[in-house]
Amino acid sequence: MATDSAARLNGKDVVGIAPLSPSEIQLILDTAEELLEVARRPIKKVPTLRGMTVVNLFMEPSTRTRFSFEVAEKRLSADTLNFSASASSVTKGETLFDTARNLMAMSPDFIVIRHPNTGAPHRLAKEVSASIINAGDGINEHPTQALLDAFTMRQRFKSLDGLKVVVAGDIRHSRVARSNIYLLNKMGAEVRCAAPASLLPLELEKLGVVPHLRLEPALEGADVVMMLRIQQERQGQSNIPTLREYYDFFALTPERLKFANQNALVMHPGPMNRGVEIDSAVADGEQSVILEQVTNGVAIRMAILYLLAGGRSEFPSDS
Ligand code: CP
Repeated sequence: MATDSAARLNGKDVVGIAPLSPSEIQLILDTAEELLEVARRPIKKVPTLRGMTVVNLFMEPSTRTRFSFEVAEKRLSADTLNFSASASSVTKGETLFDTARNLMAMSPDFIVIRHPNTGAPHRLAKEVSASIINAGDGINEHPTQALLDAFTMRQRFKSLDGLKVVVAGDIRHSRVARSNIYLLNKMGAEVRCAAPASLLPLELEKLGVVPHLRLEPALEGADVVMMLRIQQERQGQSNIPTLREYYDFFALTPERLKFANQNALVMHPGPMNRGVEIDSAVADGEQSVILEQVTNGVAIRMAILYLLAGGRSEFPSDS
């Protein structure tokens, strides 16, 4: 790899976008750009993390993030351990911190954690010497998702500065929205959020975001439209009358997409609920980069592991 082997992130962990500087974000995106090439090789593997161990500690369901981390780790030659809460002693009442202490007794170098509680990765990062990577904590942050989203936007538009990005759907319960807002603000993009009032958080304007209660005006002149699903698992009671009504007023349909710029990108972090927040004709249409987001997720996660490992004295050469 041509990336400067002295390139570093400032901390030992990546627990959110909030603590990252714009130059650290830039470094992750630039490193991912180089690592994307590994996926095009006949043998998709580099020796960068040989001899290192990564624990994937997922306390919530995941398809994209979990497999993407595992692919990234294997492409970097790490040894991977996959922890599933339902098949572990968590079901017998063991706490996260006792679980982590027991895992640490096996000397992992990284713990990738997804957890339903806000701040769980941040607390773990203070307790253990392994590098902690947040794969989504409650409604707080999903930093690697925002980084892969930014990478996907940058592939098309070269720079995030001045981009008009609409994030629409269940903003209130979305860690993806929060991480994207932090990142896009730091990198100079204009963020607009569109949702029914019940799904917009109160503090949105303090985050430098323009809120909209209808999708069409938010879409005017937009370069990117990012749709989010309704996070039913995080809502005590329904915040919308019916899914049918939600589709009628808020779904991204071919007709509504015409309000955005002609070549606007359509994005979705997944999982999608077709016929609720997005119409299949848009999800599978020419402007959709939803599967490119998934491809880019592997490169972003490789870049984070690579850069965090670069902070270690035993970081092996990749010749
Ligand atoms: N985007 C995302 O976090 O998807 P998963 O829940 O499938 O990991």
